[in-house]
Amino acid sequence: MSFLELLFILLVLYYVVYVLLWVVLDCNVALWYKSRFGTSLSTMRGQVVWITGASSGIGHALAVSLARHGVRLVLSARRVEQLEQVQAECLAAARGLLAQRDVLILPMDMLQLDKHQAHLNTVLNHFERLDVLVNNAGRSQRANWTEIEIQVDRDLFELDVFSVVHLSRIVVRYFLEQNGGRGHIAATSSIAGFSPVPFSATYCAAKHALNAYLYALKVEHRKLDVTIFAPGPIATDFLLEAFTGSEGGKVGLSTVNQKRLTAERCGELFAVAIANKMDLTWCGLFPVNAMAYCARNPTLTKILGQFMTEKTLNKIREGKL
Ligand SMILES: NC(=O)c1ccc[n+]([C@@H]2O[C@H](COP(=O)([O-])OP(=O)(O)OC[C@H]3O[C@@H](n4cnc5c(N)ncnc54)[C@H](OP(=O)(O)O)[C@@H]3O)[C@@H](O)[C@H]2O)c1
Repeated sequence: MSFLELLFILLVLYYVVYVLLWVVLDCNVALWYKSRFGTSLSTMRGQVVWITGASSGIGHALAVSLARHGVRLVLSARRVEQLEQVQAECLAAARGLLAQRDVLILPMDMLQLDKHQAHLNTVLNHFERLDVLVNNAGRSQRANWTEIEIQVDRDLFELDVFSVVHLSRIVVRYFLEQNGGRGHIAATSSIAGFSPVPFSATYCAAKHALNAYLYALKVEHRKLDVTIFAPGPIATDFLLEAFTGSEGGKVGLSTVNQKRLTAERCGELFAVAIANKMDLTWCGLFPVNAMAYCARNPTLTKILGQFMTEKTLNKIREGKL
């Protein structure tokens, strides 16, 4: 066998294994690799991470994953009782690595933009530093494209995009002016932020927009770390609060008994992505993970589009396949 033939066989083998990993893993290959062989979460011990939307679901799970390694936390959301429960869980998970004052509860409505600066001041007065902002608060959507009222488009963008951009700008200014340009902005985007799914047009557009804002930030300020974490279907209560097509509407459905990645695993993977300062990562059970890879390749997207009706796509995203 010639050297070139050997090289060809190795290359084919590499791609076969790589594509098999898309099927077997519950996240992109690079994230899985980092979770095994990358920077350990314990290197973040003592850092201060501010998580919005920390009262439930992915934010809650991320907080517990970080607390386990002694990361100091700011927990923000509107429901204070839930935040207190998350704080207690974080302290229990930390097993002595954190004291009560290391997990700050900071009640906050993301939509009150005029209070964002005061919230950052509270964080800095308390900890005298901030290392990472995790923009996780957000709401999803279920609605037919043709029936979405324009006010819903506006309201969803206000929460999932503009409030996030506004808070991030304030924090980035702090990183640039008072932190020597060092700092880390992370956000919970969605696979819907690079691969459109049916019946969530505004949500898909909002997560695409959020990604674009963060890519642009990274291009302008290269010393900053920017992490876009894009989950597929996760077992949280997010469908209860999801927007519909009508102003003020909420879907009000449970995700119980649907095939979804657990919030705990999602939070753990998100923590790995942050500790390793990864730029874009995603997670989801089969076939979501493999489909996310295909979505990043225009030719594969076209081929997949021939076989997938909107009903099939919807069943996959609702964990019914
Ligand atoms: N679950 C999934 O399948 C999935 C998939 C991809 C992406 N995501 C994204 O993951 C993020 C978290 O969602 P989740 O699944 O964990 O759902 P969740 O359990 O409903 O969490 C949403 C969080 O956002 C907070 N929030 C909502 N409106 C807010 C506001 N006006 N001000 C402050 N906080 C607000 C909620 O807290 P309060 O109600 O206490 O304020 C809650 O903590 C969202 O950005 C979502 O788009 C979820």
